[in-house]
Amino acid sequence: MRIKSPAQLIAESGADREGHGLKRTMGLFQLVCFGVGAIVGTGIFVGLSDSVAEAGPAVVVSFVLAAITCVFTAFSFAELGSAIPVSGSSYSFAYATLGERVAFLTGWCLLLEYGVSVSAVAVGWGQYLNELLGGLTGHRLPAALSAPPGEGGVVNLPAVVVILLAATLLVRGIRESARATAAMAVVKLAVLGLFCAVAFTAYESGNLSPFAPHELAGITSGASLAFFSYIGFDAITTAGEEVKNPRRNIPLAIMICIGLVTLLYCTVALGAIGAMSAGDVADKPAALSLIVDKVTGSGIGGGVIAFGAVVAIASVVLAVMYGQTRILMSMSRDGLVPRVFQRVSPRTATPVANTWIVAAVFALPAAVVPLDVVMNLTTIGTLAVMAVVNVAVIALRRRHPGTETSFRVPLYPLSPVLGVLFCLYLMWGTGWTTWLQFAVFLAAGALVYAFYGRRNSCLAGSSAAPSGQAEAEAALTPEREPQEV
Ligand code: ALA
Repeated sequence: MRIKSPAQLIAESGADREGHGLKRTMGLFQLVCFGVGAIVGTGIFVGLSDSVAEAGPAVVVSFVLAAITCVFTAFSFAELGSAIPVSGSSYSFAYATLGERVAFLTGWCLLLEYGVSVSAVAVGWGQYLNELLGGLTGHRLPAALSAPPGEGGVVNLPAVVVILLAATLLVRGIRESARATAAMAVVKLAVLGLFCAVAFTAYESGNLSPFAPHELAGITSGASLAFFSYIGFDAITTAGEEVKNPRRNIPLAIMICIGLVTLLYCTVALGAIGAMSAGDVADKPAALSLIVDKVTGSGIGGGVIAFGAVVAIASVVLAVMYGQTRILMSMSRDGLVPRVFQRVSPRTATPVANTWIVAAVFALPAAVVPLDVVMNLTTIGTLAVMAVVNVAVIALRRRHPGTETSFRVPLYPLSPVLGVLFCLYLMWGTGWTTWLQFAVFLAAGALVYAFYGRRNSCLAGSSAAPSGQAEAEAALTPEREPQEV
């Protein structure tokens, strides 16, 4: 079991030095905007109506359950992010605490959370773009060019286009990309705020009953679906090497983001159901546009919402793709994926080849796979990663008790233990088909590790590579830390 200590990770990344390739350009405000940019998107604009179909008005409870899962996990992320402020997120945390094999599988699952979710979110973007085009010009793209095979189309062209656009922005540099993400985050908050303002003028409390038509089972599957709309808050930790004062700003930004979006989602859900009954909201595409059209009696309001969705979802694609490239960069530094992923362009200070490879690979499922399949896979993969993060914080405290950190999980060890249990509860709610697909995906990951990662691991070639608990502890003695690999 090869383990890399937190100090070693930080030293290797150069996160403790100036001039380490990536630039420290992001402050707290930019980081919160980046977080909101990564979180609010397809889940609330497209997925809300699916959660309402399961839970009814009790979807508010579903949102709170999903938020509680995120809060426990966010505490763990915050402690780990402030102890190990390097790019790579949960992958790096797992490497430092649970060993290389778990780290590799965590990185593998992150391909679902970031990569496959880029595909999912891009597909949602394509739907709203078509909605907007229809409203503005009266013409929509033909199904052949805007839907995957199996849903009456050939290729989802808008989904591919938004991925290529995001890649173009990302290779131009983090400063431009963070500004773009921040601007888009402000637009989407304004649009959702506008939605609430309109919806609450038509609020009828009678629409809230029956409150939970499908009882606890409905609330549970509603929470699993609602969880998708929270995915992305941990993208904040992937920016570890580009944040000013990361030990303070990363935990603070995570907490602010979760609080903000929970309030937002519950208000939007209440407004939607209050204005139009749960039965009418359920399973409707572009439900938010529909509600605004109904309340205002014109198509203009719905068009504004569609515009907001296009902007919101584009920013999610950007932020999530950013996270994926940084995770691959960390895995490449460790030798677990090819070296091309760690190359940083001296001109733009961004990993150019890495970004274009990610764009090309995940444009493919975006073009040809249906939305619900990629969304469910994203959800189960993310929950698995979050369960690992909660276990990792326990391992960090036990293995590296002296690690410097500006944030400590409250109510330890209750909080991470509850975090794991909530993750398992929501994973259970995704259904057996998704579990089956996930098992196949994990088995493929184990094979890739056995035949590539394990053999090419930098840590394996290091004379200081600890191979067990005792050696891992020994490697933490001050004179051996940080180790050169
Ligand atoms: N939370 C992200 C979204 O809702 C994945 O689009």
